[in-house]
Amino acid sequence: MKDALEQIRASALASLAAGGDEAAIEGLRVRYLGRKGELTTVMRQMRDVPPDERPAMGALLNQIKDEIEARLGDALALARSGVRATRAAERLDVTEPGRRPVLGRLHPLVQTMDEIVDVFRSLGFSVAEGPEIEDDYHNFEALNFPPDHPARDMQDTFFVSGDLVLRTHTSPVQIRVMETQRPPLRVIAPGAVYRHDSDTTHSPMFTQIEGFMVDKRITLGDLKGVLTYALQAVFGSATAVRIRPSFFPFTEPSAEVDIGCFNCSGRERSCRICKGSGWLEILGAGMIDPNVFRAVGYDPEEVSGFAFGMGIERIAMLKHQIDDIRLFFTNDVRFLRQF
Ligand code: DAH
Repeated sequence: MKDALEQIRASALASLAAGGDEAAIEGLRVRYLGRKGELTTVMRQMRDVPPDERPAMGALLNQIKDEIEARLGDALALARSGVRATRAAERLDVTEPGRRPVLGRLHPLVQTMDEIVDVFRSLGFSVAEGPEIEDDYHNFEALNFPPDHPARDMQDTFFVSGDLVLRTHTSPVQIRVMETQRPPLRVIAPGAVYRHDSDTTHSPMFTQIEGFMVDKRITLGDLKGVLTYALQAVFGSATAVRIRPSFFPFTEPSAEVDIGCFNCSGRERSCRICKGSGWLEILGAGMIDPNVFRAVGYDPEEVSGFAFGMGIERIAMLKHQIDDIRLFFTNDVRFLRQF
């Protein structure tokens, strides 16, 4: 009987030391101390023990029973505290401040482009697009760049193959639209353009918006009126606009359009935006050259028009005082989050 008791003790203590959840521990209690439990069964055999051995055997039995009960209590407490810890970890703290999801936003160039496009759309212009891989004819020839004319050097062209180039400007969209549509036309064409040029103010890929208006009797006055309205809508209604003579193969006469410096209005010699000149060069423009109309089958005696083109990076850099064009393309979120 003594051996039986020692065996029960050893097995009960080992099982309890292994632990388990509340239900497993209750199972162990029933197995050892329950009405039909192992210890209970041995206890019933006490009457078969010779009377002189009974006190010692009874004492041993009680000792084992106490021991098992104590360990059952410990194991139960441990199981319960484990559950509590898990619950506490899972608990929803409704007082904790919410975590804001990180929202994306439009790239500063896209914002600037959208703003300019919206101004021209409000004037009845529609948006057109053209291919970024363009042929020599649309990028140069139809725009009145004669073959081997030095004006082609103005554009630092990337050649693709054969007579294909990465378009050096958005002006070929003028040709593509006029080839397929008849006047009256009011069109803007935003998009990427490419030139072999790279420093803090030039990127090999950049963005332009082209615009043109063709109808009967369009004059330089229309050019001036539309561009003044648009530039004041973008830079503020008090913005001064100045038109200077210039040269482009596809316009005659050609012009460079400046705005008064929005930073110093021409009053500060040391202005970091206009470098003291008081003016900022914003776009190229002009009256569409008769040769361009002939290339698309329009009669230059019948119709006239103006065209303009501007670089979006330059405008965004001026507006936000950004001094390195590469910031637009390196995708540093610390930069992008500021807009
Ligand atoms: N295509 C010219 C360039 O990229 C910009 C330009 C100038 C566009 C005058 C025009 C224009 O439509 O009339 O430098």
